[in-house]
Amino acid sequence: MRILLFSGKGGVGKTSLAAATGLHLSRIGYRTLVMSVDPAHSLADAFDLEADLFHGTTGDPYRINERLAIHEVNIQKEIKRHWREISTYVISVLRTTGISDVEAEELAILPGMEELSAMMYVNQFRRERRYDVIVLDCAPTAESMRFVSMPTTLEWYMRHIFPYQRGLLKAVRPIANRVSPIELPPDSYFGNVQDLFAKLEGIDELLEDPKTTSVRLVTNPERMVLRETQRAYVYFSLHGLTVDGIIVNRVLPAEVSDAFFREWRVSQGRILEEIEAYFAPVNVKRVALFTHEVLGRERLEELAGVLYQEKEDPAAVVRTEAPFTFVKRDGHYEVRVQLPFAVKGEVGLFKKGDELVVEVGTLRRHIGLPTSMAALSPTRATLENKVLTVEMKES
Ligand SMILES: Nc1ncnc2c1ncn2[C@@H]1O[C@H](COP(=O)(O)OP(=O)(O)O)[C@@H](O)[C@H]1O
Ligand SMILES: [Mg+2]
Repeated sequence: MRILLFSGKGGVGKTSLAAATGLHLSRIGYRTLVMSVDPAHSLADAFDLEADLFHGTTGDPYRINERLAIHEVNIQKEIKRHWREISTYVISVLRTTGISDVEAEELAILPGMEELSAMMYVNQFRRERRYDVIVLDCAPTAESMRFVSMPTTLEWYMRHIFPYQRGLLKAVRPIANRVSPIELPPDSYFGNVQDLFAKLEGIDELLEDPKTTSVRLVTNPERMVLRETQRAYVYFSLHGLTVDGIIVNRVLPAEVSDAFFREWRVSQGRILEEIEAYFAPVNVKRVALFTHEVLGRERLEELAGVLYQEKEDPAAVVRTEAPFTFVKRDGHYEVRVQLPFAVKGEVGLFKKGDELVVEVGTLRRHIGLPTSMAALSPTRATLENKVLTVEMKES
């Protein structure tokens, strides 16, 4: 099974492109699910489905054609299915603070529940072998980052805090419940958490396996959008996910010659060049701005036609190596950069803002550094087997 994750800033075109990709995949023969993880769902809207028709069946995938289904993760339904114990406990705690019931219920939707629910589905569908490809239409960048870091966070919680907390609570509950205004979570709460965790087993390996999961970053040819895309690229790489495609959406079509757009065209041209250089060797696709909104199946098919060649396979595995990785070794940090072809010549290294610029011969790569490494400077570089290792230290 393949997982294609569409991420990017709000409004760049993630939902439209994910839906169009789903249509194309189903047309070339894959059993496909497009799943929306964005709490502000618009997947059904993209297909221009009647709200009543679609929402009557929420909680389960909705069939678009023989091989394509779409699914919007519905948090209220998920709470009933998976999160009851947890939200009941949180609600009871919130009530003791004097918050109204309705508010407490609203607040008990904890950050990350949608993402975790989506992951449970991914895991379940994989076990059932229901789909060949799952296309994830993610929330804007910040939340999708939470999505990918969730398994790691959870695992840490389960390993370090959970056993300790549970044991401790067993010991203190008889006393604490008499004196504390807040009721401690019942033992079933922990059973429930454990249960949920079991449902997520293996999802992190799935996300980190480039043969299974690919991230497609959607962007627009605008400076601010590009910045966010670059940060996302670093973040996904940091979490071991493989970004294997960039889609630049809403590029001004060549036939627009109106003077009003002159400046737009110049700046878009410059940014497009920058995008190609920054993300190389990752494939960059361009999609022009349409004369109309991309609404309904016909328009989505049209978008798919622009995005993919007739027989192109968006699920093909095109990258199996992360372009760069960050590691901590013997007390110092290292950046390892995959160089796509053997290069010769001097290695030049310098910092530019929070980016590391690597020059090898005529090749130049900009690597955004994670916060933990942004203050460090490159001290040494070694090139071996097409991998450049850069040592980073405090200067
Ligand atoms: N290439 C395009 N040309 C014209 N309109 C587009 C294009 N791509 C997306 N849109 C429109 O832009 C709006 C936002 O797109 P959407 O896919 O919902 O973005 P996101 O999911 O990233 O928030 C929608 O109304 C969509 O129809
Ligand atoms: Mg969307």
